[in-house]
Amino acid sequence: MSNNFRVFHMANRLKIFNIVGARPNLVKIAPLMCEMGKHVSIQPILLHTGQHYDERLSDVFFRQMGIPTPDFNLEVGSGSHAWQTAEILKRIEPLLVENKPDLVLVVGDVNSTLAASLASVKLGIPVAHVEAGLRSFDRTMPEEINRVLTDALADHLFVTEEDAIGNLLKEGRPRNRIHLIGNVMIDALHQFLSLAQKSNIGSELGLLNGNGFVPFAVLTLHRPSNVDSMQTLEKLLSAIDAVAEELPVIFPVHPRTESRLKDASVKHHPRLRLIPPVGYLDFLCLLDRSSLVLTDSGGIQEETTALGVPCLTLRENTERPITVTEGTNQLVGQDPLKIVTAAREILAGKPKGGRVPQLWDGHAAERIVKILLREASSGTLTLNQLRTNNEEIIEEYYNQQRLHSALGYRSPEEFERKAEWQAESRSILSRGKTNRPARAEGEKRLRSATRNP
Ligand code: UD1
Ligand code: UDP
Repeated sequence: MSNNFRVFHMANRLKIFNIVGARPNLVKIAPLMCEMGKHVSIQPILLHTGQHYDERLSDVFFRQMGIPTPDFNLEVGSGSHAWQTAEILKRIEPLLVENKPDLVLVVGDVNSTLAASLASVKLGIPVAHVEAGLRSFDRTMPEEINRVLTDALADHLFVTEEDAIGNLLKEGRPRNRIHLIGNVMIDALHQFLSLAQKSNIGSELGLLNGNGFVPFAVLTLHRPSNVDSMQTLEKLLSAIDAVAEELPVIFPVHPRTESRLKDASVKHHPRLRLIPPVGYLDFLCLLDRSSLVLTDSGGIQEETTALGVPCLTLRENTERPITVTEGTNQLVGQDPLKIVTAAREILAGKPKGGRVPQLWDGHAAERIVKILLREASSGTLTLNQLRTNNEEIIEEYYNQQRLHSALGYRSPEEFERKAEWQAESRSILSRGKTNRPARAEGEKRLRSATRNP
């Protein structure tokens, strides 16, 4: 009998809560959910925070990539950073308490990643971070804050490139918790590329002639530093207008950017084609067939490197340096002259070139799952003391919350004001702590007391 089997036979399946919130999380979780589904010893649960909720930023990825319907959706929606992070913390905690996962797995660097990690570690639940250790060293990027904090919290750190190992070691993370496993976003690319190549997006956008695709470029922009200031956005788009003189530029517009462009009055080059965000298969097809990609996306820097397509990143820095040192990526910042000059070089047949980084081979999810199973069987992946100490107190808190709301009160505070019920509930709940039948009876009595006050 293998060691793994012995452990899971006794202790049931390894329950893993997988967290998604925003578009790039969906691309990264797809291969992981698929891989976990192959192991009977794992029970994968999917939780969507609802950070992204538009059909084109969320549902289409579930459909196209075969991601299972989430077991839970926190439906948090949009808001300020603090509000969104806090709402996720509040809404995820009772689900973690009730469902008692053995591990919470987070991907990437969005607000959902940080919030889920924080809620989990405070309950003593181990966290695995996929795409750990990336650093832009630019603290004005909201994602950089999310990366640093998530990596400080996580117990298991899965990295895509060597530099990330150095970053984590400098921050004091233990070497034996860091694993270079490759890139799950590139797993998805390997899995879906041949299907994507059958997409009709080329004909829908009029990008085909008798010989196949005409030369065209793809543009995406959604970083706050590029799109939140209208002045910066217009400057960037004026550079893109110059690129559009040379070839059509397809620009699927992120909702953050769309909301800024709504107020813009400037007319752009007719070959700069603004379209709504497109589904994964159509987008992968566009990337694959394009002559040039201009972007400020994190994931797209990696996908173009994997595809060998020239990429100009409209940022001053990148948290993914391997895409520059080994891949096809060049940092051109926000300077229109630099952007246009670099684009013209590429279109003149002088691209930078590049190679695919080590382990970006379509097997990253397999490696992650293998490591998690190994850690579980060796006992590293066990609940820490914090959880066992806190569990009863926290469960009691949520049981009381549920009781208050079942009794029709808007808040525990309102309930507390009713002195006689307060006394009664306290005594019943304290008996119920050690005695489940007494608790059930107490809850029943309180409910009937409400119906017949
Ligand atoms: C988020 C991530 C960013 C990631 C990007 C991927 C954070 C801090 N940012 O940025 O790292 O690169 O997702 O696309 O987590 N909106 C919609 N529909 C939606 C979602 C958002 O219209 O389904 C609009 C709302 O007006 C919202 C704005 O887009 O205020 C920004 O959404 P938000 O999730 O806060 O940040 P993103 O810019 O999408
Ligand atoms: N993507 C997509 N449709 C689009 C734009 C992007 O399917 O219109 C995919 C892209 O291929 C990549 C992911 O979304 O897999 C990247 O997401 P995004 O750029 O929003 O986030 P980031 O990677 O910057 O966090």
